[in-house]
Amino acid sequence: MLDIRFATARSASGAVAVVVPSGSPDAALDLLKLGPADLAECAAFLKDVEHSGSAGTVHTLPRPGRKPSRLLFVGIGDGNEAGWRSAGAALARKARTETSLRVLVPHDTAPEAVRGLAEGLWLASYRFSLADTEPDPLRRVTVALPATGAAIGALEQALEQAKAVVTATVLARDLTNMPSDRKTPAWFAQQVVKAAAGIPGLTVEVREPSHLAAQGFNAILAVGRGAASERGPRLVELSWRPRGAKRHVVLVGKGITFDTGGICIKPTSNMKLMRKDMGGAAAVIGATLAAAAMRLPVRVTALAPLAENALGADAMRPGDVVTHYGGLTSEILNTDAEGRLVLGDAMAYAVRRLRPDVMIDLATLTGAQGVALGKRTAAMYCHSDTLAGTLATAAAAAGESVWRMPLSDDYVDELDGDIADLVNSTDIGAGSLLAALYLREFTGPLRDRWAHFDMSSPAWSDSNDGELAKGATGWGVRTLTRWLETAC
Ligand code: BES
Ligand code: MN
Ligand code: ZN
Repeated sequence: MLDIRFATARSASGAVAVVVPSGSPDAALDLLKLGPADLAECAAFLKDVEHSGSAGTVHTLPRPGRKPSRLLFVGIGDGNEAGWRSAGAALARKARTETSLRVLVPHDTAPEAVRGLAEGLWLASYRFSLADTEPDPLRRVTVALPATGAAIGALEQALEQAKAVVTATVLARDLTNMPSDRKTPAWFAQQVVKAAAGIPGLTVEVREPSHLAAQGFNAILAVGRGAASERGPRLVELSWRPRGAKRHVVLVGKGITFDTGGICIKPTSNMKLMRKDMGGAAAVIGATLAAAAMRLPVRVTALAPLAENALGADAMRPGDVVTHYGGLTSEILNTDAEGRLVLGDAMAYAVRRLRPDVMIDLATLTGAQGVALGKRTAAMYCHSDTLAGTLATAAAAAGESVWRMPLSDDYVDELDGDIADLVNSTDIGAGSLLAALYLREFTGPLRDRWAHFDMSSPAWSDSNDGELAKGATGWGVRTLTRWLETAC
């Protein structure tokens, strides 16, 4: 991770970035401690390139043989957190090959601005690699404030918050990018144990197949039964229990370490990215670690039901019936609708044993989500306007996009099974919505204090795009963490 720190402004030899607010490029010039001739040159340059100050736009003025050697004028738009985040991301990409970067910001820069800038810089400079690769030349970014005042404490704190949420997002991205030959359920569980080690207040419990069987997690076992025994299922329970917490939030994440579809096998084009099918699990683990890093005063339990949906001699078949934790039964009409099966067990366990105040689940659950909302926007399902509202506000502040979808009771009869309580698949369309209605059956008394995010497409980015790097996005870590920070 880049080293980001504060310092007071002074002239620098490397690259210097100056923030440009939308509509007033001259405000940028005030930040530069340059002589009149240099200032005139900069003013002419800004006019020449027609710098609008729109968020994330960078124009570079090379100054060979002079100090600073390059000036990067970066737009922050209206100057809200999102504008600063775009600016940070754009700088991370433009300045990768510089040896140092100093960012000049106004003396009244707000903590939210610093958080946005740092998140953008860190998130956009992420790269996944299996081997030890050479890091980018840019190792350090200095945020230069005209003076160090009393407000520096709040800025330092904003930087710490950004670091906690980025560290958690990086973990979620690393887990999701990892190829599934390495990423078995046991491996994932071990990564959680490692990440939680040494952080006071955090505990991890990993249930192995024998425990899952003894305790009745039959759907998790059924989904995992097609895989070789070294690749058998697990249930990870990570819990953050600060002293004096008044609220308990349970986060449940779909953890399919690879989804072949099972006996109802996927075509190649649909299967090739299915190592991302544990993105929900990665996000809930990440958010819980971030809550611990920030020492948030709310109890959080993350549940990650992990299984590989493989083909094998003992794989579950269409027509099989499984009895979930808690007793509901599901008729498996499609072995490719496996996510809702494992989530059903974990949610029933949460409701019965953990008795949370709120339960939120995240899952790469349906292709239909991407059809409805595309690559960037996750589908949110929630009966409570209040909970949906606070989650939408948190997502917007954190820079992730969500859209609330209806939980239409019109379709609920479609879920009735002939020989079981529920069927795990229907063919009447509205696939994302029906998956949500299926999950709702496992919420018991928490029905109105539950939210479900179908983040199938946003879990992955096809390109380097703003703060997203090509590959896993870590979608949900930022929304959940911000919601835990602000609404709990
Ligand atoms: N993991 C997939 C959903 C998915 C598709 C995630 C594309 C990300 C990108 C899920 O397990 C699945 O296969 N869902 C089926 C459900 C259907 C069989 C009812 C689907 O969406 O086709
Ligand atoms: Mn599937
Ligand atoms: Zn799946």
